[in-house]
Amino acid sequence: MKTNAAVLHRAPGEWNVEELELDEPRRGEVLVEMVATGLCHSDDHVSHGDAQVAYLPVVGGHEGAGIVRAVGPEVHGLEVGDHVLTSFIPGCGKCRWCAMGMQNLCNNGALIMVGHQMDGTFRMHTKDGTDVGTVSLLGTFSEWQVYDQLSLIKIDEDIPLDVACLVACGVQTGYGSASTAGNVQPGDVVVVAGVGGIGMNAVQGAVACGAAHIIAVDPVADKQKWALEFGATESFPSMSEALPRIQALTNGQGADVTILAAGLVHNELITEGYHSIRKAGTLVVTGVGPDQEDGLHGINAFTLAMFQKRIQGALYGMKSPREAMPNLLNLYRTGKLKLDELVTKTYSLDQINTAYDDMRNGHNIRGVIRFR
Ligand SMILES: NC(=O)c1ccc[n+]([C@@H]2O[C@H](COP(=O)([O-])OP(=O)(O)OC[C@H]3O[C@@H](n4cnc5c(N)ncnc54)[C@H](O)[C@@H]3O)[C@@H](O)[C@H]2O)c1
Ligand SMILES: [Zn+2]
Ligand SMILES: [Zn+2]
Repeated sequence: MKTNAAVLHRAPGEWNVEELELDEPRRGEVLVEMVATGLCHSDDHVSHGDAQVAYLPVVGGHEGAGIVRAVGPEVHGLEVGDHVLTSFIPGCGKCRWCAMGMQNLCNNGALIMVGHQMDGTFRMHTKDGTDVGTVSLLGTFSEWQVYDQLSLIKIDEDIPLDVACLVACGVQTGYGSASTAGNVQPGDVVVVAGVGGIGMNAVQGAVACGAAHIIAVDPVADKQKWALEFGATESFPSMSEALPRIQALTNGQGADVTILAAGLVHNELITEGYHSIRKAGTLVVTGVGPDQEDGLHGINAFTLAMFQKRIQGALYGMKSPREAMPNLLNLYRTGKLKLDELVTKTYSLDQINTAYDDMRNGHNIRGVIRFR
């Protein structure tokens, strides 16, 4: 069949919306008609070449929601008509990490930047027959897509898919960065540096954990204002401007938890984050820098040991998608998690480059592409 999709032919480069051929689902695969996809900063890292995909051209996108329209042979637990979210780590359920309850660290994660499907072949092709890969074994920037069943999380049908899509990356990643990776406790002083699509959900996670003070840090004035609407108690344009307040709130000890969710996390921000936490405090590193860049220097081993600080990297909010996504949607259903308010603007697929310009210019908490 034919589908319109946003393709990256070279990196750095822009997304090119074009018609592709899409194969039928093979063994264990599912055809999904996409309803919406969020525009996460990680796909911008791909188009900038900061996160390198091994194969080009590729279709981007990993924060998707849609409806199952066909299933291939040996698909279990998914039927035509099911509503699904995409998982950017296709948890196998069998490897050591899955068995330990960490499906976000499944060994299949090694395949998310290779471009081809898990079996080494491609489902998408240009008109002239060139194979087209997908980012994260997904490629949600396409009206229709074929996914491995492991990449899909079935959800209840009462949640609108055009907001549910955000749970597929931004909400799980941000919320879990506070609740699981940061292990925020009631009464804590929490700092969230970078309150975009991920960080705004770290604020929501910190609220749910009972944090007493949530300090949002973001250079964009609108983001500082919006963070207060999501439960931050105050906000600052930079870590250096927030630091005196963090000290004042904690008798000079430092924050219990600082979460780094800036669009690009360079060494300077990691160092500032490190100095913002107390003895035995936790610095959660969720945002990423370019994959070729050294990110950790200037942190003194003596103080790291003597102050017993913890630097915690966090993938997918350290949560298993198959468990976390339905739980987060439950919180939305019961009014305890904001999703609608995260969507600042919706776009058509053709507007994808404008949408990413808007993200880079700080206009959106999240931009969302609606396919229909
Ligand atoms: N670890 C994971 O599993 C995971 C998953 C998804 C995304 N990410 C990463 O998380 C990061 C954030 O993604 P996003 O989609 O929320 O991006 P975004 O562009 O929506 O938000 C980033 C925010 O950071 C702010 N910012 C920029 N520089 C800053 C600084 N020095 N201090 C404080 N704030 C700053 C921006 O103004 C913006 O509001 C990206 O690096 C992305 O690749 C990680
Ligand atoms: Zn993402
Ligand atoms: Zn696994």
